[in-house]
Amino acid sequence: MAVPAAVEQQQGIVRFYDFLPERRTFLEDVLLGLSRAQKTIPPKYFYDAAGSQLFERICELPEYYPTRTEMAIMNACIGEIAQFIGPSVQLMEFGSGAGVKTRLLIEHVKPLLYVPIEIDGATMQAAAADLSARFPLLNIAGITADYSRHLVLPEFVLPISKKVAYFPGSSIGNFTPEEASEFLRRARRMVGSGGLLLIGVDLKKDKATLDAAYDDAAGVTAKFNLNLLTRINRELGAEFQVSRWGHKAFYDEEQGRIEMHLVSRFAQFTRIAGQRFDFAPGETIHTEISCKYSVDEFAAMSKSSGFSCDHTWTDERGMFAVFGMMAI
Ligand code: AVJ
Repeated sequence: MAVPAAVEQQQGIVRFYDFLPERRTFLEDVLLGLSRAQKTIPPKYFYDAAGSQLFERICELPEYYPTRTEMAIMNACIGEIAQFIGPSVQLMEFGSGAGVKTRLLIEHVKPLLYVPIEIDGATMQAAAADLSARFPLLNIAGITADYSRHLVLPEFVLPISKKVAYFPGSSIGNFTPEEASEFLRRARRMVGSGGLLLIGVDLKKDKATLDAAYDDAAGVTAKFNLNLLTRINRELGAEFQVSRWGHKAFYDEEQGRIEMHLVSRFAQFTRIAGQRFDFAPGETIHTEISCKYSVDEFAAMSKSSGFSCDHTWTDERGMFAVFGMMAI
């Protein structure tokens, strides 16, 4: 139906789409991961409702510098960033979470359409509702999906020429460098030629700072890690005794990455879907990597994935970088 030209749009359109594969994949990933010599569980499963909340608390910790450093960079450089992005864009965000970082960007960029992509549907919908209240004219197409997998989004019917992918928080660190390159190539295909990528990346630095950031004094990161066992108990019917497990996180300087593990403090076992898993004392479940890059390393990786690295915004101490790149 044609809208009379004199009638202005009063309210943005907000729609939600669920692209999450069946629940079954969580069970499959856990069974597969716990069957390997080095037991492992992918970090994307941290983010149930409790995990998403614990992650918000991590972001406030004195030791966890990435969130506040990235925010400071965004605040200081938002004029240049908005200029780099330009007007009338479709802004896609990978792992949008609670959407705090997004507010500033939306305020300055005024995208025609905002597309948050988030694995925790409830968190995404709450964040979208909050943004919609703050920016009543903003159109939102909220996607519940696992962005680490291949994802084909519907072509939204809006006359938008430029697509911008926003990937803040250094979440790209959860990928190995090979997976990160693959992700960048997929992002490159999603934004198309001339499309943009704005990405936050945690930089290499001294081991003491990094160790503390992932093993905080208040034990919030430990809780975040251990919550994975609670989630497996609840959703997959396991009977992990969480008090018999510990948290270990350390920076491996050679590999340039944080490794996070759950440590079995005793000889113990659990059953999941009829399968028994034994844990020796001190044995670990590897739950996360968080890769760190130098500015040059990351720029080189982006280039080989089809982006030209046009802008690098960093803080004074060179802790964190926000890259503005164009798909070539
Ligand atoms: C959300 C993946 C960016 O690696 O720093 C924080 C997750 N894990 N503390 C990170 C995390 C432990 C975080 N990322």
